[in-house]
Amino acid sequence: SKTRHYTFNIVTSNVTRLCKTKSIVSVNGKLPGPRIVAREGDQVLVKVVNNVTNNITLHWHGIRQLRSGWADGPAYVTQCPIQTGQSYTYNFTITGQRGTLFWHAHISWLRATLYGPIIILPRRNESYPFKKPYKEVPIIFGEWWNADPEAVINQALQTGAGPNVSDAYTINGFPGILYNCSANDTYRLKVKPGKTYMLRIINAALNDELFFSIANHSLTIVEADAVYVKPFETDVLFITPGQTTNVLLKTKPYYPNATFIMAARPYSTGQGTFDNSTAAGLLEYEHPSQISVNKTNAAVMPTLPTIMATGFVTNFTKKFRGLNNSKFTANVPQTVDRRFYFTVGLGSSPCPKNTTCQGPNGTKFAASVNNISFALPATALLQAYYFKKSNGIYSTDFPANPPNPFNYTGTPPNNTFVSTGTHLVVLPFNTSVELVLQDTSILGAENHPLHLHGYNFFVVGEGFGNYDPNNDPAKFNLVDPVERNTIGVPTGGWVAIRFLADNPGVWFMHCHFDVHTSWGLRMAWIVLDGPLASQKLPPPPSDLPQC
Ligand code: C2O
Repeated sequence: SKTRHYTFNIVTSNVTRLCKTKSIVSVNGKLPGPRIVAREGDQVLVKVVNNVTNNITLHWHGIRQLRSGWADGPAYVTQCPIQTGQSYTYNFTITGQRGTLFWHAHISWLRATLYGPIIILPRRNESYPFKKPYKEVPIIFGEWWNADPEAVINQALQTGAGPNVSDAYTINGFPGILYNCSANDTYRLKVKPGKTYMLRIINAALNDELFFSIANHSLTIVEADAVYVKPFETDVLFITPGQTTNVLLKTKPYYPNATFIMAARPYSTGQGTFDNSTAAGLLEYEHPSQISVNKTNAAVMPTLPTIMATGFVTNFTKKFRGLNNSKFTANVPQTVDRRFYFTVGLGSSPCPKNTTCQGPNGTKFAASVNNISFALPATALLQAYYFKKSNGIYSTDFPANPPNPFNYTGTPPNNTFVSTGTHLVVLPFNTSVELVLQDTSILGAENHPLHLHGYNFFVVGEGFGNYDPNNDPAKFNLVDPVERNTIGVPTGGWVAIRFLADNPGVWFMHCHFDVHTSWGLRMAWIVLDGPLASQKLPPPPSDLPQC
């Protein structure tokens, strides 16, 4: 294994999209940002130099960070921000993972323009559990605002209202031909006939789950969140923010000069306003020499599910199965030490005196886990924990259950109003955890993409309506559940996950819709050191930023 060095200069640069030029915060002037390419087992060092006026942190989404929690990146959770003129070197080793992940800013909404792929190749002497593709191509979805995304979220938090939606979705940074004034701003993938391409698909959009399809082509899913899965074929892919997936695309034997549209547009069950536009890229066949050129082929549009296609999402999500190959996959915890039941969803908080709030019924939008809207401290939780200075920073009494029993069929609990605080759960090393996440639907049902830092978890069950602790566990899949780091909690339903708490540190868990994270749909776990030296979190690096 090798050490890979990267320098990420955070700079402002001018970018033109939808006919407007504006200044954005970027890494090395690139949108999307640069790729990290490494092999399983490699050490990665990324020196991040902050040359902008914003505070910055970067997160290596899905990287397990085994005993390297100081490099995880969420602001005020594992580190204080890198301030203007400062730098910090993220230092981690990729252990037991191969596939596609991504990196993104983890402070406020800066990930709107600070994101890029992480490509983890198998070890040198190892191959894929499928035929080696002819070429590998990252496909990364994003969202574009004509306004400054920082102004959008700051205004929303001040007024209590929902933030303005984005102006476009993007594929590899480009909105594509379906938007005004964007014909030249279109991602083009040139392919040869009769080959297998591997698309490394990443949803880096801020607030939207997406459907994706390529006209006249099907996709074979082989990996999710940097874990191989049992391959399955689909015409349409569904992917939440925070999820990544590798798919094989077989090109047709002959398609002289033909062009097909690849398109991404949202799945949304929320009542609010959303951007329901469509990002497009082009799959262009090269002209094979043996066939005469026919220039008249117009691009074909794929068929995508409707915006509220919950049936499609449910069926698609259930198709994911672990590969169950001990060479590549971990064991599903068969027994459980601690059970948690968390309600997740939107609520509101009272409007401060002398303010007019534009949220529901004159309140402020808020979001919560077990009715607590998580407040980030002014220092980093991991430092407070490590140096035993938690006093006044956080408490360790996060409830294992919601304050009011949740019930869809009876009278909904009167917990529209959330409380605010910094409460954490403490888990002894190697605790086997089962967590049921239930969508509260109090202010409308919605699919919430929940992401856990520092771990992959197994998705052992899901359903609609109330989770039933007496009958649902009997139906759990403890044989070949998919292992991932982000899962959509079904709209008006629940999902059950299991993980083994074998990575000491402080680990954030939150909805990967940035607007919900900003409103407080987030919490954190403390996983204690184990007895052995190899089970302890090492001290912080000397350049760790201070608050
Ligand atoms: Cu990709 Cu905490 O996030």
